[in-house]
Amino acid sequence: MTTAIYPGTFDPITLGHVNIIERGLKIFDRIIVAVASHSGKDPVFTIEERLELIRGAFKNDQRVTAESFDGLLVDFARRKGVKIILRGLRTVADFEYELQMSLANKKMYPEMETLFMMTEGAYSYFSSSLIKEIARLGGCLRGMVPENVEEALKKKFAGGV
Ligand code: COA
Repeated sequence: MTTAIYPGTFDPITLGHVNIIERGLKIFDRIIVAVASHSGKDPVFTIEERLELIRGAFKNDQRVTAESFDGLLVDFARRKGVKIILRGLRTVADFEYELQMSLANKKMYPEMETLFMMTEGAYSYFSSSLIKEIARLGGCLRGMVPENVEEALKKKFAGGV
């Protein structure tokens, strides 16, 4: 049974992330979506809300689980006994940061490999921040986020923030 960890902030999960997870499941038997509780960002959704949204988006697929982690990703991976990290690359702009992060992770946990997948065209311009801005300004989110996330965003920004 091969398992990969797909880490991120997921504030919130978007269809871009879903696309990487679904394609990742063609390679791995299980994917643990690992939500970083401290990623240097100031999230709109709490850690519990972010986990709930991921679980809701994959409620019919038991191969996908969601967990939060504190501290280093390599320590979480070691605790889970997982040696593969799955990451999506959107554009060339992601490359340098991803290279830096994968090399640093490799230095700390040499047995661990990071596997990169190109984000599919339509999703390559997405980011959770962009989606939150569209939601905040009352724009249409169809085709950008799973239905449960669209509902949660509408609720979060109801009345404008
Ligand atoms: N489709 C659409 N959007 C995507 C995407 C995809 N396939 N992949 C990423 N994005 C978006 C994310 O939503 C995010 O948007 P935002 O910046 O508006 O929030 C943006 O691209 C960046 O995503 P990502 O590169 O995954 O960053 P992240 O903050 O979500 O995750 C961690 C970074 C959590 C994986 C990293 O900081 C980490 O591992 N932290 C733990 C501490 C640690 O070990 N640090 C040392 C690392 S060497």
